[in-house]
Amino acid sequence: MTLAPYWSRDGLSLYLGDSREILPQLGVQADLVLTDPPYGDTDLEWDVWPEGWVAAAATVSSAMWCFGSMRMFLKHQAEFEAAGWKFSQDLVWEKNTGTNPMTDRFRRIHEHALHFYRGRWDAVRHATPRILRQGPSIGATRQRGGRAGHLGYYGPSVYVDDGTRLHSSVIHHPNLLGKGIHTTQKPVKVLQPLLMYGCPPGGLVVDPFAGSAATLWTAVQLGRRAIGVEGSEEILQRAVAALEAARW
Ligand SMILES: C[S@@+](CC[C@H](N)C(=O)[O-])C[C@H]1O[C@@H](n2cnc3c(N)ncnc32)[C@H](O)[C@@H]1O
Repeated sequence: MTLAPYWSRDGLSLYLGDSREILPQLGVQADLVLTDPPYGDTDLEWDVWPEGWVAAAATVSSAMWCFGSMRMFLKHQAEFEAAGWKFSQDLVWEKNTGTNPMTDRFRRIHEHALHFYRGRWDAVRHATPRILRQGPSIGATRQRGGRAGHLGYYGPSVYVDDGTRLHSSVIHHPNLLGKGIHTTQKPVKVLQPLLMYGCPPGGLVVDPFAGSAATLWTAVQLGRRAIGVEGSEEILQRAVAALEAARW
């Protein structure tokens, strides 16, 4: 049986259904999974961790950015490991408002995005975006390599100061404060560096929990192709309406 997309246009396809069933049937190898699952941190009706999705994601890609909380990642660490996902790094998205009403903890105004890969590190894309350096350029080219107090040994490399710097691991950007079409919608500016890092131009991104389709739309704007799966038809209809109106 051929799987038919719910909606498809200009390199972006959306499927309706449970991503744990749909992903293995897609028959694709994507450059990147970029996703934002239900964290399972609350007792809200929709916030239920979909058991088994981590293994299903491994059927379509060897690289993944996954949004989540520390609580979520620590609780499900064994599932990532069992599916062959190796942790490479974490980013922090610093928002402007907190989501935790409890007064016995720090006001939480951030989320994590963790990067995982399977197999060989040099077989997955890791093109760290660069941003313009603030202030005067050092204008130097230096031989580096050796031993640093805080790193231990690191291999030889040539450092060329071209006036840019590696994007830092903290992304400061306000959240959408209910102005999006999904309650947990991720802003385009937060998604852009993750997509550029993990998927080459013309490459394929898969989002198993597409929600508003913000990830897919951003991917296509960056010249990538995108496939999303969403379990709720109501949410999918809102996503399609936004895509058709190019309302992003
Ligand atoms: C945290 S939201 C993702 C929001 C998205 N990042 C955005 O920017 O709009 C998770 C989404 O996954 C969907 N979902 C939950 N379980 C699913 C499953 N097993 N298969 C597909 N979608 C599912 C929910 O309906 C929800 O829209």
